[in-house]
Amino acid sequence: MKPLTRIRSHRDYLDAYAKSVEDPSAFWAEQAESFIWRKPWDTVLDWNFSDPDVRWFEGGTLNITENCLDRHLSQRGDKPALIWEPNNPEEAHRTLSFRELHAEVCRTAEALRAKGIQKGDRVCFYMPMVPELAIGVLACARIGAVHSVVFAGFSAKALADRIEDASCKAVLCSDGNFRGSKQIPVKDVVDEALAKGCKSVETVLVLQRTGQDIAWTEGRDIWWHDALEGMPTESAPEIMESEDMLFVLYTSGSTGKPKGVVHTTGGYMVYSAYSFLNVFQPEENDVYWCTADIGWITGHSYIIYGPLLNGTTTVMFEGVPTWPDAGRFWEVCDKHKVNLFYTAPTAIRALMAKGSEWVDKHDLSDLRVLGSVGEPINEEAWHWYHEHVGRKRCPIVDTWWQTETGGIMISPLPGITEPLKPCKAMQPLPGVQPIMVDVNGNELTDTEAEGLLCIKHPWPSILRTTYGDHERCRQTYFSAFKNLYFTGDECRRDADGHYRIIGRVDDVINVSGHRLGTAEIEDAIDEHADVVEAAVVGYPHDIKGQGIYAYLICAHHVDDHEQFKNDVLETVTRVIGPIAKPDHMQIVSGLPKTRSGKIMRRILRKIASGETDRLGDTSTLLNPEVVQEIIEDSLHGKVS
Ligand code: WT7
Repeated sequence: MKPLTRIRSHRDYLDAYAKSVEDPSAFWAEQAESFIWRKPWDTVLDWNFSDPDVRWFEGGTLNITENCLDRHLSQRGDKPALIWEPNNPEEAHRTLSFRELHAEVCRTAEALRAKGIQKGDRVCFYMPMVPELAIGVLACARIGAVHSVVFAGFSAKALADRIEDASCKAVLCSDGNFRGSKQIPVKDVVDEALAKGCKSVETVLVLQRTGQDIAWTEGRDIWWHDALEGMPTESAPEIMESEDMLFVLYTSGSTGKPKGVVHTTGGYMVYSAYSFLNVFQPEENDVYWCTADIGWITGHSYIIYGPLLNGTTTVMFEGVPTWPDAGRFWEVCDKHKVNLFYTAPTAIRALMAKGSEWVDKHDLSDLRVLGSVGEPINEEAWHWYHEHVGRKRCPIVDTWWQTETGGIMISPLPGITEPLKPCKAMQPLPGVQPIMVDVNGNELTDTEAEGLLCIKHPWPSILRTTYGDHERCRQTYFSAFKNLYFTGDECRRDADGHYRIIGRVDDVINVSGHRLGTAEIEDAIDEHADVVEAAVVGYPHDIKGQGIYAYLICAHHVDDHEQFKNDVLETVTRVIGPIAKPDHMQIVSGLPKTRSGKIMRRILRKIASGETDRLGDTSTLLNPEVVQEIIEDSLHGKVS
């Protein structure tokens, strides 16, 4: 079997890129051949973006875990596959070799089978960052069950919505979660979610992590260790069709409830592996650490699948960057001799604010490549990362992609894309064909351009649908511009053809790298009985990238603003989770609206950003007078 093609030089990149555009099927077939398929595919690619209907490697059968685990056993059986660093540095870390990880995945797979979970069933995860989360995810893939990982910071209601949307048959959770100095209930939240309905759930598998007291529902709940008792360390992989569903991952959009982005098996495998190899350029004995949570796509593609498919040692971290102190990331890099490090701008900014002494005192000489993901990185953070973490030796790969793209789309290649331009994602990976358009869908053909970012040809890990609602997938991504996948992002291309991603043009905001829909936060606020209407916008925030600014209309006169606002925060926490709590709230008597009744968010965004001199014409509004009132109140500090 030929290995995946590694790009080693700029020439290699140009050749690979040209080939991938001239003959995408031949290009990706060559990459796909480096994996174990139980049966080869008949057709490499069949697609249209109007339904949309995209199929990669149809006719081929495989199991992704054979490619992540089994095939490494002969060459790398004793090599560390997973290094787990616990929240508390005093607790021992854990290392699982490929052989051990394989055995644990098999035992867990058999335990799930024993619980009646079969190919196609959906399994929800609501867990802290412990090895069993990665093991459980792979165990699902082993038996063909569809994993749906929900970030453990979401509320019971948000969890219940996601469980119900995909009719999950089981929930995998822990008793509690250690996070910094806090101990957080997990099973209680699951119980609360399941009390809301979720009739499809038959089994709750509970990992003992904190040992805290939890309630127990006989017949439904089972301890993880009891379920695994006596299970064999070999488990026959379920043979999957290439286009069988691998996982669902919920993400926010500009309207309505979060939608379940669906990724399938063959294409996702090929692209997550190929992109990991070329963007991080791992060597055989490298240690790679991505600080994301597995509750987000970054954790799926670049903690679990991408590294393991390449036989790379992956680090999983349970804790937070600032506990016990602001040096924790760098202490962990030093402790495990991390070579490849991948984190988010929000973490970089938070640590930068604590002072560079926290990083300067650690030995980071093993670092070779630094990655950034999730939001635009600002110049200051980029330079701090480059100077203090990378000590000016390590290239930064600013990787642009999305839950929907499954893998990194636009990124420099380390040591290959030179010179680096700070804050630019630079160039598309082979197989990725970006196109920029104006709002009318006209292609911007000049190299130097600013406009909307679309992709014109499928890549192997493009989303296939949104769970249970294919029309929503078409509407959201494939209807704005004919025959194009629309990303929702705006970007700028310089005279050299290099891309800088500016950010979302829809009502999606990116708070500390967490993607939230403003409509979703408004709906949550509206659940408060005394709120008549709410409008939420993002505004620039030093650490979080974007902060959440909420304008509220109250049902009656409120005397105690503090109490009222605290109640609203509690409501948002209950409906979505603490990540969606507004940073600022302003009580207003009205919201600026067009004559057709649409809230003018553009104006609210400007006010929230303090750009009140650049409001544009407000005279055509239904109620221009409220604009002045909102501005005055915001200037007079009637905001908290
Ligand atoms: C949105 C997707 C991709 C994994 C994490 C986020 C923004 C992502 C970058 C970057 C500028 C970026 C975009 C995108 N984004 N990476 N390197 N530079 N913006 O996945 O939650 O699906 O969010 O994050 O706006 O559309 P996600």
